[in-house]
Amino acid sequence: MRILLVDDNQTNLVLLSKLVSKLPGCEAISFLDPSEVLAALPKLEYDIAVIDYQMPGYNGVELLREIEMFERYRGKPVVMITADTDMATRMACLDAGSIDFLNKPVNPLEFRARMRNLIALVDARNKLADKAEWLREEVDKATSEIREREEEIIDRLSIAASFKDAETGLHTKRVGEYSQLIARALGLSVQECSDIRLAAPMHDIGKVGIPDAVLLKKGKLTEQEFAAMQKHTLLGCDILRESKSSLLQLAATIAASHHERWDGQGYPRRLAGDEIPISGRIVAVADNFDALTTARPYKEAWSVNQAVDHIRDRSGSQFDPDCVRAFEQALPAILAARDALQDGVQVLQMSA
Ligand SMILES: [Fe+2]
Ligand SMILES: [Fe+2]
Repeated sequence: MRILLVDDNQTNLVLLSKLVSKLPGCEAISFLDPSEVLAALPKLEYDIAVIDYQMPGYNGVELLREIEMFERYRGKPVVMITADTDMATRMACLDAGSIDFLNKPVNPLEFRARMRNLIALVDARNKLADKAEWLREEVDKATSEIREREEEIIDRLSIAASFKDAETGLHTKRVGEYSQLIARALGLSVQECSDIRLAAPMHDIGKVGIPDAVLLKKGKLTEQEFAAMQKHTLLGCDILRESKSSLLQLAATIAASHHERWDGQGYPRRLAGDEIPISGRIVAVADNFDALTTARPYKEAWSVNQAVDHIRDRSGSQFDPDCVRAFEQALPAILAARDALQDGVQVLQMSA
């Protein structure tokens, strides 16, 4: 432990230094001149200060006020050495932040006893700070573990849903990536973008509740079948919305709103414009782009240009114009993500 000693009297300073050197684990940093302390302050590291009150230039209180200007010295124990027994001086010392006094001439036994107490105090404070730091780290660790587990659950749910659908597991992943890139171009926060990336892959999770005869039908759906198919939005929302996880709640919002249209002609609730949650508006663009540019059993893949034109043409009718602009802005990154997540390299293909 480093003990700062400031006393303009050389004999006293030597005595104090000797006393400190006898305390286990302590080293003295001694100064005769208070102005030298001030010069050294930016780099001075100490745990306890022992300061003579009566010094030329700066008295103990003035010096202490200067020291306290530095954030990192605030709260360090300070002992003032004073010959003065008058109450006004002592009050001024206490006001300035000193927590203990020693009378001149310093009694070695008393000095040792006081210092031991303060050392124990500093020790306890350090341990508490270490413990607080340790606790903070543990909480961070636990939080990121929970997040990792949530991510894994989402991944597995998305994979489960993709087995039931004509989509592949990578479609859902790509929609997650594209959605994040669009969200970023829209200026959403880093946290919101990352949440959208994780939640968007579950947009079609409700398809697990749609009869195979409808879901896997090759030809055109009848009106009734289309109505049944549309229910995947609300089913998905029902599956997810009761979750305590904010990520799954966001996924519920996306499931419910990714087929709404900017002009109010979408489903299931015919929401329009800003009534549609921003996450749903973003995923609508991302999902459409991926569906258009991917081959399905019943259709060829469109070229990127065709798909971009299609989306641009529907800005303000099917899609939120801001999301379309953000999509175009993010297009280079979206295409890079598309290359990295091609179905050809997928491990978990739809089985049958
Ligand atoms: Fe959908
Ligand atoms: Fe989709």
